[in-house]
Amino acid sequence: MSSSAAIGVFDSGLGGISVAREIRSAMPNEHILYFGDSANAPYGIKTPEEVKKLSFAIVERFVNLNVKAVVIACNTATSAAVKDLRAHYDIPIIGMEPALKLACDLGKGEPQRVIVAATELTLRERKFADLLQRFSQNNTIFSRPCPDLVRIVEQGELGNRDIVFAALHKYFDDYDLESIDSVVLGCTHFIFYRDYFREFLPSNVNIVDGNAGTINHLREVLFERSELAPQTEIGSITLSNSDTSNRISVLSKTLLN
Ligand code: DGL
Repeated sequence: MSSSAAIGVFDSGLGGISVAREIRSAMPNEHILYFGDSANAPYGIKTPEEVKKLSFAIVERFVNLNVKAVVIACNTATSAAVKDLRAHYDIPIIGMEPALKLACDLGKGEPQRVIVAATELTLRERKFADLLQRFSQNNTIFSRPCPDLVRIVEQGELGNRDIVFAALHKYFDDYDLESIDSVVLGCTHFIFYRDYFREFLPSNVNIVDGNAGTINHLREVLFERSELAPQTEIGSITLSNSDTSNRISVLSKTLLN
């Protein structure tokens, strides 16, 4: 595979743009093809079989475009499909999972109280159950599905403070937030709320996400395969979406920049 080939990055919709923009800044020589499946979003309330089928169709499309690797910039699609995708395709498939390990490690051995915000499907799937089993013996973990936070991004309402804060109150007022150590943003759509969360949460609560870890992993995998783009390459990013409306195209560009 040519090291100048593109990296395919996809999500159920616009959330994965938070990953694509971090890849762009951390790996500026790479060409990125982004695909958002907004016409079928949200994935988080679908069955694993439905999400698997949609994910296969997207990866097939990327493979036909000769990408050198795929990043599933979606915790939900990773939960439902990563295993089968890896078994089916030869190229590296990089997945994402809620960064619970990172949050627990911040305690440096002290038990942590962590809220994992993600989609219903991510929190229901086997992959997350395995993570919980690893970390819940020494820590207290709360699982919080937040479907409205996906909808708000897809509908272009992220700039509406009142709507965003109403959603945050709805999902987090039940917790004694002063006693929480970290909130994990376990869905790529939620990364766009980082500043809102900072304002909403007590200042001692850490806000943790898995984007940087995913990108480090991508870099390592490409390095090992000698497939990192040459340093002379000027990278690029191409956005596409199953929803071809002008609204989604404008929103995608706004979120990217
Ligand atoms: N952005 C996705 C994730 O990281 C899923 C959002 C959805 O479609 O429900 O899980």
